[in-house]
Amino acid sequence: MDFNEHTATRAVQDSFRGTSDPRLRELLDALTRHLHAFVGEVRPSIREWEHAIGFLTAVGQTCTDTRQEFVLLSDVLGVSMLVETLNEQEGGTESTVLGPFHMVESPPRALGDSIDLIGEAPPCLVAGRVLSSDGTPLSDAEVDVWQCNEKGFYDVQQPGVQPAGNGRGLFHTDSEGRFRFRTVLPSHYPIPTDGPVGRFLRATGRHPYRPAHIHFIVRADGHTPLTTHVFVAGSPYLDSDAVFAVKQSLIVDFTESTGAGTAARNGVRTPFHHAEFDLVLSRELG
Ligand code: BEZ
Ligand code: FE
Repeated sequence: MDFNEHTATRAVQDSFRGTSDPRLRELLDALTRHLHAFVGEVRPSIREWEHAIGFLTAVGQTCTDTRQEFVLLSDVLGVSMLVETLNEQEGGTESTVLGPFHMVESPPRALGDSIDLIGEAPPCLVAGRVLSSDGTPLSDAEVDVWQCNEKGFYDVQQPGVQPAGNGRGLFHTDSEGRFRFRTVLPSHYPIPTDGPVGRFLRATGRHPYRPAHIHFIVRADGHTPLTTHVFVAGSPYLDSDAVFAVKQSLIVDFTESTGAGTAARNGVRTPFHHAEFDLVLSRELG
């Protein structure tokens, strides 16, 4: 049979008939169906298709050991967040995207330590508990934290300006499941715009900003690991996150305080911000 507009999809699907892994075959079958339907609908010119291939090539060529432009593309297309949402665990804190800045290991720190290694910006206290979905506190849970500074930059974006490990920490909860650390209030910031994804955003009139947030990965025995953020209430861009990652349940008040007692107990100067919230893990099934 000739390969034409009407036979193309079946011909390609048939070519995958020998795929022994049933899941791979299912994925390729659906991919072929959707991809061909897209091409059939928009009917790209040869030039347009070359342009699309050129764009994807540039995305690949922008990737390095420390930069993942394909993840960024998946993020701005809402695919990363859709995959997160479809894999959401019942009963736990909602998850969000990992993002590209967890590319170095967080330095182990003791509860109460500061992850701000510079000490110039107003301080912020962050505290809470790690709980199982039935409310049981989880002791010795691992709480991996990373955030940008008060100007919106991660340490890895400013080598030589920020010390390595600034804004990062690996904590373990105490016997009551509690964690606490000192930091600075993170700023909203733009995702990297100097590559093809940045050109894509400009071509579509979209801004590149993310609302202020702190990233967490939480792990505890017998529980599904949680990758999430806590967003700063009142931050710009909560309603238009460039990567669609905001969930209302993750927006937390970072209250400003001048309380001298709390400040002294936690080793910070006044005024300071403080936030308190629980991170809830779902039990691993089976
Ligand atoms: C981040 O929050 O670090 C991030 C997430 C997705 C894309 C870019 C940055
Ligand atoms: Fe971030």
